[in-house]
Amino acid sequence: MKMKLKLKLPRSNCTGTWLLGGLLLLLGLHWHSALGKEEHEVLLLEMDSDADADADCQQQMKDDMDTTESACENFHEYACGNWHPNSSQRAFGAHDMRSQWAAVHKQRLVRHFSQVSSSAEPDQLATFYGNCMSGQQSVRVYTEALERRTYWPLLSNDSATFDWVAASAGLRRFGAQGLWRLKVQPNWQAADQSIFYLLPPSFEMLGSSPISEFLYQRYLKSLLLELGLRVRRASALAAQLVDFEQSLRQLLPLDVEQTLVLREPQSLGQLEQQLPQLQLRRYFDLLLQGLPSGATEKLLVVADLEYLSRLQRLLQRPHSVDPLVLSTWLLLKLPAHVELHQYDEDPLKVRQRHCLERLSILMPRQLSQLLVRLSLGEDPAAYEGQVVRAQRLFSRLQAQFERQLNETDVFEADPSTQTLAIQKLRNMRLILPQIEAEAPGAGAQPLSGNYDENLLQLSQSRALAEFRLVVDCQEKSCDGAQPADRNSLNPLSVNAYYRLKQNAVVLPLGLLTAPSLERCRWINAMDQTARLSGSMGSILGHEMVHALDYDGINYDASGQLSNGQWPPRAIIRFGLRAACYLGSRYSNATLTINENIADSEGLRLAFEAYRHQRTHRGVTDPRGLKTFFVAFAQNWCGSAPSSRGAGAGQHAAHSERVNNVLGNFPEFLEIFQCKAGSQMSPPDKCRIW
Ligand SMILES: *[C@@H]1O[C@H](CO)[C@@H](O)[C@H](O)[C@H]1NC(C)=O
Ligand SMILES: *[C@@H]1O[C@H](CO)[C@@H](O)[C@H](O)[C@H]1NC(C)=O
Ligand SMILES: *[C@@H]1O[C@H](CO)[C@@H](O)[C@H](O)[C@H]1NC(C)=O
Ligand SMILES: *[C@@H]1O[C@H](CO)[C@@H](O)[C@H](O)[C@H]1NC(C)=O
Repeated sequence: MKMKLKLKLPRSNCTGTWLLGGLLLLLGLHWHSALGKEEHEVLLLEMDSDADADADCQQQMKDDMDTTESACENFHEYACGNWHPNSSQRAFGAHDMRSQWAAVHKQRLVRHFSQVSSSAEPDQLATFYGNCMSGQQSVRVYTEALERRTYWPLLSNDSATFDWVAASAGLRRFGAQGLWRLKVQPNWQAADQSIFYLLPPSFEMLGSSPISEFLYQRYLKSLLLELGLRVRRASALAAQLVDFEQSLRQLLPLDVEQTLVLREPQSLGQLEQQLPQLQLRRYFDLLLQGLPSGATEKLLVVADLEYLSRLQRLLQRPHSVDPLVLSTWLLLKLPAHVELHQYDEDPLKVRQRHCLERLSILMPRQLSQLLVRLSLGEDPAAYEGQVVRAQRLFSRLQAQFERQLNETDVFEADPSTQTLAIQKLRNMRLILPQIEAEAPGAGAQPLSGNYDENLLQLSQSRALAEFRLVVDCQEKSCDGAQPADRNSLNPLSVNAYYRLKQNAVVLPLGLLTAPSLERCRWINAMDQTARLSGSMGSILGHEMVHALDYDGINYDASGQLSNGQWPPRAIIRFGLRAACYLGSRYSNATLTINENIADSEGLRLAFEAYRHQRTHRGVTDPRGLKTFFVAFAQNWCGSAPSSRGAGAGQHAAHSERVNNVLGNFPEFLEIFQCKAGSQMSPPDKCRIW
């Protein structure tokens, strides 16, 4: 069936691309028509009612809504009541809108890998993925790789030669951790520089329940059996290994979760003097072998001195550590680190997720390039378009924030603080994934047919690239974009974040290719803008506002800690307004306040920027405003995972986030005609900027 529709579209340079499809399906007629008169003209479109409705993102938006729910009583339910991930998306971890975006990426990749024919020219990603899925792994590959660096009593029965320092360095060159956790992170005092952190181990696999300890012991035993030990010996040794790890954990203070004290970075030379038995100098020399590291003793290290000195005492105590136990514990750290055999018995989907995770860690750039091709097509211009759209949106939000900072009375009679705030805003960068640039050494060598060997090779290049970052930054100050960029490149990540110490918003690839940033083919430019502003605009706005939340105001335009830059008067004015976010409708308010500020003020930025754009284009049609609010709310369809990860406690529940934020918007209440006293209209309306 064909029919003709007349529509009014604002003049826009992109109408041409909409027509390319030939068949155009339009619009949000159903729920828009509730608003009354259509004032459309100008463009004549052919519409085929059989056209692929799934491709219509406006349709998707409507399908997720539950319009039987009153928008003024529970907008989250109204906007999201019919949202649900299908079974395969759930199997890929979808429990809310963002995890659904990630699940869609994973589905695309898995589908692609299952279609790559073996006769096609060898493809590194497909090779690695295929070998990972086939699950034919051997612990021997890992122990042999370690044997090249030192002798292991378990394997060579000569305990006198065991060199635990060389063993630890050898492990870390493959990315595994030993008696301490060595991390590469930005110097917390100078964010542009990456340095080493020496921290206690994480004890993740050991866990803290009898069940996790039992499972861990059984796992270690299975590795020992695979190494050829007899059952009884493997059992006894596995029990000793778990005991040893528990004795390490006892070196931690009891409240380790709560207290992460950041020490000043110190030079490795100083640290070596404080902890001579740990032979840290030799450890780093071995670790950095082959890298142009220059003066090792000048390397900067942030160390957990309490833990390390207790560790030193433990290792010194006569007979406290059996060399066979220590060496075997270290030996098994590598297979445990790569989760050898951990997924062998899991269902297909779990193994697929695991193998994709591995790819995203070890070959992020190649996987990103593939994901971009799969989600945006072969034409590089499509990706560029997406980048440009994100950057323009970011600039519009920046300009909007500046207008609000110009107008606010938080800075009344205090132009110098106002200038600081505006300077910080203007300096803020948007960090986008650099999918083209090649990381030094990453994945340079072709992969073999052996998964374990490939895994080791890629892990090693990754670890060495990480160390190179430190070594290169040792003398000169490095470009701060580098470490952040590594994070933004994770193709499976759909979380944007604000980097306090770089004054930058990071938008990872998973978001840059998410449906919310895609151009809907079938809708008009103003709805397009409304959708983009409500969805991606509110995400970027949220991150931007973190620059001036309770944490943010302590850092200056370059990300340096600058306590006391804001005079008490401005802080008091800020605090008086921010106090509204401590009101009773916010649960756990003191914990979630920064996130609640960012949610609400970020949506304010997105909304004002969108309104500004409408005014500029002379749009008066109110429908885009509804689209805007629905698009925002639909970012939060579903609910947070039941086992919440670190940091999750700082966010309120999804429904509360949506409803509390919108309750602060008189414009929302007006456009949805919510009466005073309705659930969505609280008496106190919070706004800082
Ligand atoms: C779930 O939805 C996706 C689209 O994201 C589709 O490709 C997939 O086939 C669907 N799976 C099932 C089981 O319906
Ligand atoms: C263990 O030591 C004995 C005696 O020194 C030697 O004969 C044997 O080959 C060694 N085993 C291994 C695995 O090195
Ligand atoms: C903010 O105020 C300053 C100083 O009056 C002005 O230069 C700047 O253009 C204003 N910014 C915006 C976005 O209006
Ligand atoms: C408040 O925080 C605690 C601790 O993080 C958490 O267990 C609880 O679920 C939170 N309550 C709500 C309503 O979010």
